[in-house]
Amino acid sequence: MSKFDIQKPIVELPDQDPEREFSDDELVWTDEEQEQIEAWKDQYPEDQAAIMKVLWLGQEKFGYLAPEVIQLCADTLDMSFSQAYGVSTFYHQYYKEEKGNYVLDVCTCFTCQVCGGYDILHYLEEKLDVHTGETTDDGMFTVQAAECLGSCGSAPMMEISNGVYVHQLTPEKIDDLIESLRAGEVPDFTSVTLPQDEDEMDGNRRTDVQTTTYETQPEAEHMD
Ligand code: FES
Repeated sequence: MSKFDIQKPIVELPDQDPEREFSDDELVWTDEEQEQIEAWKDQYPEDQAAIMKVLWLGQEKFGYLAPEVIQLCADTLDMSFSQAYGVSTFYHQYYKEEKGNYVLDVCTCFTCQVCGGYDILHYLEEKLDVHTGETTDDGMFTVQAAECLGSCGSAPMMEISNGVYVHQLTPEKIDDLIESLRAGEVPDFTSVTLPQDEDEMDGNRRTDVQTTTYETQPEAEHMD
């Protein structure tokens, strides 16, 4: 068998008969939420186009998108479960299971990868004693690997709980960050202004990141 043959499913198939987390009584929108949904529907030529917003509302209301919550969102827009499920699984920002208080999405896409994204991910795994995708025993942190979060210029970076970007990460920054989060202090969302001048960038190259120091080679991370 060549090393490129697929030996296991790339995506784990969902449990076909999961235990329900939410009862029918809980699975209802309030009048206010229903009003909001109607307003979203009015923005599009077809109701189904509002699925991303309705899923987001479901996640905020229930904490995560359990299958029955996805079903509620699908029913709300008169679409099939599989259509709504497909949208929810395309974006890692939609949580399909319960997460920790803080979800740490470390970008391991190409730019962050060559700037040490996997080193940051592995440092977090070791520090918090979890594997990627797991939640710490105290329920405080979930560590995830994310695809490009659109902030490649400040690599390596991560996002906290779908809202706060932390840039140009180092182990020291991670230490400070975890300490702050444990104390309930979430940093403000920040964006980074990068130098626009070529001289300042040393011939259009980043000078503030030592790209040769990363320990985890970018390729072969997922190849057995
Ligand atoms: S590769 Fe990490 S933000 Fe784009």
